[in-house]
Amino acid sequence: MSSPLDLVGWPVRTARLTLRRATPADARAVWAYRRLDDVSRWITAAPATFEEFEEHGFGPDRLDAAVIVERGGTVIGDVMVRVVDGWAQAEVAEQARGVQGELGWVLDPAHQGHGYATEALTEVLRICFEVLRLRRVTAGCFAANEASWRLMERLGMRRETHTVRESLHRSEGWLDGYEYALLADEWRERAQG
Ligand SMILES: CC(C)(COP(=O)(O)OP(=O)(O)OC[C@H]1O[C@@H](n2cnc3c(N)ncnc32)[C@H](O)[C@@H]1OP(=O)(O)O)[C@@H](O)C(=O)NCCC(=O)NCCS
Repeated sequence: MSSPLDLVGWPVRTARLTLRRATPADARAVWAYRRLDDVSRWITAAPATFEEFEEHGFGPDRLDAAVIVERGGTVIGDVMVRVVDGWAQAEVAEQARGVQGELGWVLDPAHQGHGYATEALTEVLRICFEVLRLRRVTAGCFAANEASWRLMERLGMRRETHTVRESLHRSEGWLDGYEYALLADEWRERAQG
């Protein structure tokens, strides 16, 4: 099955990092940090075993949208880039197909605090707008996940929505959420300084 990420010439290099498509062989390395409490606390699923993670959290559907972040040959994180339809009225729905991106991110806690997520996501936004030609990119997080929404603000994303006790956390109950977005126009203005 083809993925929008096939359009990108991988690997992509930044000053300190290499970005590349994820493969099934990355499952162990990704599981090693995704299973940590500080990480699984904030992400959608917390599989109990590696086998469960491999089957449900790292299957073909996930791999189609997954980018691996490497530093010096070590896997330090992963980014999800999913291309989706924009909302549209029925008569113009065709024009809204595949024009939007949804991003997600996880960095191994051992590599947080060095700006690697900012560096990787700055490049992912460039890919979204310049290579995939998307018109809008979004991301969401629990409002309590300060590291994640601060990253979005560093990236120049705009907070569009604050939902109130709308998202059910597996151990913390109903929590507030934030949705952020960035339009291609806004990104271009920012990129041009
Ligand atoms: C969200 C997450 C990726 C952010 O990671 P992070 O390390 O804080 O973000 P960056 O890699 O961009 O690093 C920024 C930090 O490095 C510091 N830094 C050091 N050198 C830097 C550099 N050269 N450039 C930029 N920042 C630098 C910044 O000051 C900042 O530190 P601060 O938060 O103390 O101000 C990470 O917390 C994570 O993976 N969390 C668990 C999973 C998760 O929540 N995923 C999102 C679900 S919605």
